[in-house]
Amino acid sequence: MTNPSADDARPAPAGRASAPVSAGVDGAAGAVPLLHLVDVGKNFGPVRALSDITLDVPAGQVTALVGDNGAGKSTLIKTISGIWHQDHGEILWQGKPVHLHSPKDATDLGIATVYQDLALCDNLDIVANMFLGQEPRHFFQVDEIAMEKAAKQTLADLSVVTVRSVRQPVGSLSGGQRQAVAVAKAVMRQAKLVILDEPTAALGVTQTRVVLDLIQRLKSQDIAVIVISHNLTDVMAVADRIAVLRLGRMVTVGPKSQFDAQSIVELMTTGTSARVAPPAGTSQPAGQSSGSPSEH
Ligand SMILES: Nc1ncnc2c1ncn2[C@@H]1O[C@H](COP(=O)(O)OP(=O)(O)O)[C@@H](O)[C@H]1O
Ligand SMILES: [Mg+2]
Repeated sequence: MTNPSADDARPAPAGRASAPVSAGVDGAAGAVPLLHLVDVGKNFGPVRALSDITLDVPAGQVTALVGDNGAGKSTLIKTISGIWHQDHGEILWQGKPVHLHSPKDATDLGIATVYQDLALCDNLDIVANMFLGQEPRHFFQVDEIAMEKAAKQTLADLSVVTVRSVRQPVGSLSGGQRQAVAVAKAVMRQAKLVILDEPTAALGVTQTRVVLDLIQRLKSQDIAVIVISHNLTDVMAVADRIAVLRLGRMVTVGPKSQFDAQSIVELMTTGTSARVAPPAGTSQPAGQSSGSPSEH
């Protein structure tokens, strides 16, 4: 397999960026979101998995992505992660259009995706997992001391205190601890955007708390977080912004304060909710940015 170089995540010609860049988070002037999707579409043969997806993902905020099965959540995060390339629309990173042709292109920008299966090696310890494939060398030897120090520091920075030893095999950890290791691995690689796919789905109450706290720590480090979750209690606890997908379309996106659990369910299942009023003068539901300067 050939991996395109980082240069392939190159900015497109500057002229095309002007309109989207001028619109910040939800149309707020001046604030350029870390990630901005404009009219993104993705087809699988005749299946339109995503249509006209416009979404801002600001730094230092948690954007929850919710939607029923088949809504397009996984396709959307795979497009942001460079696994799929969109058929339509643009992806802007820090205001500049980028082309993500491989997961490496996304990783090189600072996009780290923690999938549900976590992709950790149970037989290896925490340190080995965190550095897998990127072990620092010292005189041609893997620098175990530096690795251990960095792993401990990253976990401490994320306030992960329940892990007894970074030399424990990952297979011996609880679900919440495994999630923490996967997130710490992303953070150690200088991620600016961490995408979490159902991070609490397999967890009990206490472990869920650990993961939600971890998400708060990412926020406090000015990292942008996208979290996919079916658990609306978790969404309401941790999200700053909520984006509702239905049948491949963005039904609405806006600050958490615009929603409650009931309106989210209504939006996910029917595409509308009387509990969320559309902004005056637009056909779009609350919070959705169209890039128009007059819209908020
Ligand atoms: N690799 C694929 N090939 C064909 N169709 C796909 C593929 N991945 C997803 N789809 C289709 O795209 C739509 C969105 O799926 P997905 O993004 O997995 O939804 P979600 O994650 O919200 O459950 C569904 O209709 C699904 O069947
Ligand atoms: Mg999915």
